[in-house]
Amino acid sequence: MQESCTGMKKNLLMWDETLFRDPEVFEIDYVPEQFEFRDTQMRELAIQIRPGLRGGRPLNTICKGLPGTGKTTSVRKLFTEIEESTKKLVPVYINCQIDNTKFAILSQIYRKLSGHLPPASGTSFKQVFDAVARLLLREEIVLLVALDDVNYLLYENEINKVLYTLLRSHEAYEGTRIGVIVIISDMDVDLSAAIDARVASVFRPTEIYFSLYGNEEVQEILKARVMQGFFSGVISDEILALVVEQTLKSGDLRVGIDLLKRASLSAERDARRSITREDICGAYEVSRYLHLAYTVKTLHDEERQILRVLAEISGHGKEMNAGEVYTSVKEEVPVGYTRFYEIIKKMDAMRLVNLEYREGKGRTRVITLRYDPAKVLEYLS
Ligand SMILES: Nc1ncnc2c1ncn2[C@@H]1O[C@H](COP(=O)(O)OP(=O)(O)OP(=O)(O)O)[C@@H](O)[C@H]1O
Ligand SMILES: [Mg+2]
Repeated sequence: MQESCTGMKKNLLMWDETLFRDPEVFEIDYVPEQFEFRDTQMRELAIQIRPGLRGGRPLNTICKGLPGTGKTTSVRKLFTEIEESTKKLVPVYINCQIDNTKFAILSQIYRKLSGHLPPASGTSFKQVFDAVARLLLREEIVLLVALDDVNYLLYENEINKVLYTLLRSHEAYEGTRIGVIVIISDMDVDLSAAIDARVASVFRPTEIYFSLYGNEEVQEILKARVMQGFFSGVISDEILALVVEQTLKSGDLRVGIDLLKRASLSAERDARRSITREDICGAYEVSRYLHLAYTVKTLHDEERQILRVLAEISGHGKEMNAGEVYTSVKEEVPVGYTRFYEIIKKMDAMRLVNLEYREGKGRTRVITLRYDPAKVLEYLS
């Protein structure tokens, strides 16, 4: 009796115990200390910004690669290094999912330089731009702006307005020096096609490519997280191999990290000291829709309604021609065609739908959902 009780105690997690040594390392915005396999990209980035360390204009860069290949992390790490070594080159990180207009982006730059946002109302773009330029010139600062997830600037041609403002700033304010790092994960987007000639002539970016991690790389990265985040014995090599497999299947490292977090919470819920195959498989059903869940949350009401109509039509297995879809949308959402089409382009940029041109009677545009329609409806509700 005594024996089996102590045995139980060993295998069962007490209510005040946890499997997590450090839960932070599984959070979505965690910047890992150990960051391997991106040395080439980090070195290339450093070369690009080097002129900025000597008072010159940094060279412009495009970081390109599929989701979860370490683009954001690389740039964030580089920015931390710059901040630790100089005050004369000021890096500003912009998340274009959040700040997606020329005004919003300039406001963030102003905030970085002055410590506070410009007044919310009654401030013109020109006033903010004036203030930014004044600060740059007075402090002799060179600016380095990272535009992360720049595909969010594509759908209302905001990208040209933003790049024009930043890269031609020296024409309006002599002596200002601004370099840009553009980050993009949508491999279908041809950025150079979206960019005006007057922007292209000053942009001239060098492209840095972030390749997908292979089996061994994913395994090493996840293993390092496990060692740091879990107490020992929480996950066996065999189960970790399963996580690696599922991660590779989804193509995004984030899915693997999320999977580890969810699976261990599921084990904790059952008061187990280790993660089982069932924990992983159950968690995968949620983790694989990480991107869908996240993007649906960022949509506005009108966009959500349109996505719902798309999911309903696509659930019936019909091909979705943009014009015909609009006819159905109009019945439920009061929206003009131009606005409707802008929203579809945005959803394409967000990788929720795929928008394709097809030659036929004239040019038709065909919309396909990138997710199972039933799942889309589930996440919408
Ligand atoms: N080499 C690496 N070592 C450790 N962790 C990594 C590595 N590369 C990526 N990660 C982790 O994977 C996740 C995704 O990385 P990151 O956000 O940098 O990707 P991304 O290329 O910006 O993706 P997206 O295009 O979707 O924004 C992060 O949690 C990050 O910590
Ligand atoms: Mg990113």
